[in-house]
Amino acid sequence: MSNQNSSLKKIILSGIQPSGTVHLGNYFGMMRPAIELQDKGLPLLFIADYHALTTIPRPDELKSRIFDLAVDFLALGLDPEKTIFFRQSQVPQVTQLTWILSCITPMGLLERCHSYKDKTSKGIPANHGLFAYPVLMAADILIYNSNIVPVGKDQKQHVEVARDIALKFNGIYGDVFTLPEPMIREDVAVIPGIDGQKMSKSYGNTIEIFGNEKEILKKIMSIKTDSTPLEEPKNPDNCPVFAIYKQLATEVQINDIKKKYLAGNYGYGHAKKELCEAFKTYFAPFNSKRKDLANNPDFVESTLKKGEEKAREIASSTMKNVLNAIGL
Ligand code: ADP
Ligand code: TRP
Repeated sequence: MSNQNSSLKKIILSGIQPSGTVHLGNYFGMMRPAIELQDKGLPLLFIADYHALTTIPRPDELKSRIFDLAVDFLALGLDPEKTIFFRQSQVPQVTQLTWILSCITPMGLLERCHSYKDKTSKGIPANHGLFAYPVLMAADILIYNSNIVPVGKDQKQHVEVARDIALKFNGIYGDVFTLPEPMIREDVAVIPGIDGQKMSKSYGNTIEIFGNEKEILKKIMSIKTDSTPLEEPKNPDNCPVFAIYKQLATEVQINDIKKKYLAGNYGYGHAKKELCEAFKTYFAPFNSKRKDLANNPDFVESTLKKGEEKAREIASSTMKNVLNAIGL
C-alpha cells in the first residue's frame, strides 16, 4: 500500500505565502478552516517564505510580513501544541529535496500549470522560481509524508503535480513517498470585497482583520450594493454585506437579518451597521491577543522554532530514505 500513514492519524499539511496584510477572504477562506483542522489528524501549517521570493519582496518587508502572519495565526486561534507551525525556509531539507525532484520532473508537467501562465500574464516577471514553483510545493508536501493537503481551487493542480512527481519517483526508486490527496475547500465561500468581486489584495478591495478599526469600519460602510429603494424587499443572497455577515454572526442573527432583508423597509445602510457590530464582536478577543503577541516577538520566535524542530525531524527522516533510494 502506497500510503504509509494510513494506519496512523492522517497528516494534514497547509501552507500560506506571507503576501501582505491578511483580510477577511484569507481568514474565512483559508486561515479559519486550517485552524479548525487542528482537532483532526496531525496538522502541519507553514509560512511559505521561499515561495514568496518568486515575486522578489524587499527584505525588510518580507521579514515583517512573516512575523505578522505568524502573529495573526496565533492570535486567531492556532494552537502550536496541536499544529506543527513553522517557516518553510527553516527546514533546509525542503530545498535539498526540490533539486532531487526537479531531476525527475518532466518539463511538460510544469508547462501545463496554469498558475505560471496566469501570473506572468498579470505582469509578474517570468523567473525560473515562478516556473519551478510547483516542484518546491511538491517537496513541501512529500517531505512530511502528507496525506491530505487542504487548498483553494487555484492550488489543486499543484497538489496533483506533487502526486504525479511522487508516483514518478516511487516508480523509479521504490515506494518512498506517500501519495497526497488535495482537499478542496468546496464548502468555503469565496468572500466578496468592497466592490463585490472576489476579495483580493490584487484588486484593492480588501477588508482587513487587524488594524485601525475606524478605517476598517469605514471600508465596511463603503461596500458596494445595488440601488433597490429602502422600502422594497431585498435578496440577501445577492448582497456582499450579507455574504460577509453570514461568516461572522450566529445562526439566530443570520435568520433575523434575512427576515429583515425580505420584509423591506430595511436598507443596506442598516445591514452594514449590523455587520460593523458583528465584526467588532467577533474579532475583539483576537484583537487583544494579537496586541499581546505583537509585543512579544521572542515568544513568537520561540514558538516557530519549536515547530521547526519538529518539522526538521520529520523532514530529515524522509531525506534519509530519499538519499538511500537514489544512491547518494
Ligand atoms: P490574495 O488574493 O489577497 O492575494 P492569496 O492568494 O494570498 O490572497 O490567498 C491566500 C489564501 O486565502 C488562499 O488559500 C486563498 O484560497 C484564500 N483566499 C484569498 N482570498 C479569498 C477570498 N476572497 N475568499 C476565500 N478565500 C480566499
Ligand atoms: N502555493 C500555495 C499558495 O499560494 C502555498 C503553498 C506552498 C502550499 N507550499 C504548499 C500550500 C504546500 C499547500 C501545500 O496558496
